[in-house]
Amino acid sequence: MRIVHLSSEFAPIAKAGGLGEVIIGLSRKLVRLGNFVEVIIPKYNFIDSNKLNNLEVDLPDFKCLGHSNTMWKAGVEGCALHLLEDHHPAKYFQRDEIYGFDDDIARFTYFSRAALEYLRLKNEPIDVLHLHDWHVSLCAPLVKDLFKDLMVKSVVLSIHNLEYQGKCAVHDLDLIGMNGAEYLRAERLMDENPNFPHSINLLKGGIVYSDAVIPVSPSYAKEILLPEFSFGLQSTLKKAAHKTRGILNGIDTTIWDPSKDKSLVSTYSLETVTKGKQKNRESFDLDLHKRPWVGAVTRLVPQKGPDLIIEAIEKTIELGGTFLLLGSSPIAEIQEQFNQVQKKYQGNPQVLLNYNYDDQLAHLIYGALDLLLVPSRFEPCGLTQLIAMRYGTVPIVRSTGGLKDTVFDCDDPSVAVEKRNGFTFADFTKKSMCSALERAFHLFRTDPTSFHTLIRRGMQSDFSWKKPALEYQKIYAQTSMKSKAPQKTLKERIDRLADTA
Ligand code: GLC
Repeated sequence: MRIVHLSSEFAPIAKAGGLGEVIIGLSRKLVRLGNFVEVIIPKYNFIDSNKLNNLEVDLPDFKCLGHSNTMWKAGVEGCALHLLEDHHPAKYFQRDEIYGFDDDIARFTYFSRAALEYLRLKNEPIDVLHLHDWHVSLCAPLVKDLFKDLMVKSVVLSIHNLEYQGKCAVHDLDLIGMNGAEYLRAERLMDENPNFPHSINLLKGGIVYSDAVIPVSPSYAKEILLPEFSFGLQSTLKKAAHKTRGILNGIDTTIWDPSKDKSLVSTYSLETVTKGKQKNRESFDLDLHKRPWVGAVTRLVPQKGPDLIIEAIEKTIELGGTFLLLGSSPIAEIQEQFNQVQKKYQGNPQVLLNYNYDDQLAHLIYGALDLLLVPSRFEPCGLTQLIAMRYGTVPIVRSTGGLKDTVFDCDDPSVAVEKRNGFTFADFTKKSMCSALERAFHLFRTDPTSFHTLIRRGMQSDFSWKKPALEYQKIYAQTSMKSKAPQKTLKERIDRLADTA
């Protein structure tokens, strides 16, 4: 199958969070399964071309809404990565960050249209156009309307986070060459919020017009039908329920492999986990006797429970453990709260708070921790708990979304014994989180054998892309078979062959 992913991120060259990791992990696996996979992302200013082998111009100059663009290409892990460089006066992607600009709507709607203009010029049949999140959701209505001539058999949308939807004005669609007013209808892109009756919702467009909608875990797929998780799109999602199916993400088990990880001071396997972790802990300037070591590797946004993380830092110190936090906040007030915590514990060997994201340090932290805390308010999938388990770090998570599908409490009698691999808590409260933390400390200190069993179960689980990629492939096959997309006639194919001969 020929699969084209459209995304705003691709790890490691353009990554803000889990999305980028998922695009490369899934693509690589789909290639191994024999598919032809392409990925199109913007060519951001900060992308280090030296990190891309054989980067070359693919199409030097093509127009989108009268503006010039260049498409670049490079081979990455067997897939064809395309980078769109815009020559728009607003310099949409000559920025130092992926997101966070006032013109994000204009940037990503432009990217969506320009990517389709490129595919139109390429004029190759596509089995699946796979969209990710709101940034490229507009491609779904575009393909079904303005780009009907594209030979796309099916359009699939993955929802990595429903919180971000790309709400904008009718005028924003006009700017991209669509008739905005046409789309301001309840059954099209009109936002569901009755207080904003003139608002367009790009993610809604993706949901309505795609052939399949894939939230990134089965539990999240169910939760988003409830008011507290649907972020205002409940009715749209209910209508799309027949074509919605949750598929759990995988992790890249070659990048995340404690037995080969070059970022670790000491690599280890299940047989040597205790010693290996001890050696990794020794590389930190922290108190080696204050155990267990608890940590969190996360962006500090409300979704991730920053208040609960602060509480966990306090509680861990009180209980005589050590806390390591890696991650910062794009929200000034939250970052300030954490700066205060840092001030309070300055020089304390039971705390390490690092607010500069550092990939190598992340690996080392997973390789040193006993417990990883993920106290999310909601979590579409979550990758850190999967990485933690692969590194023999026992997760403590709030039972929601993908966390609920992957972590099972060691004291839960309703779960088969062999599945129990961590600690969970139900309520998004300090009390509930602290009680899970206390249970974890207790087991760690009083019953090392049972604690080691949890480590073993995590390390022996398969969190690779093998199963998820097969599930995606199934959806691709189902949706593209039903397609009524224009296919090239025999005459067109012969003409094209003659052209290229
Ligand atoms: C988003 C979600 C996270 C998910 C990731 C990749 O960052 O918040 O739960 O794991 O996307 O799908």
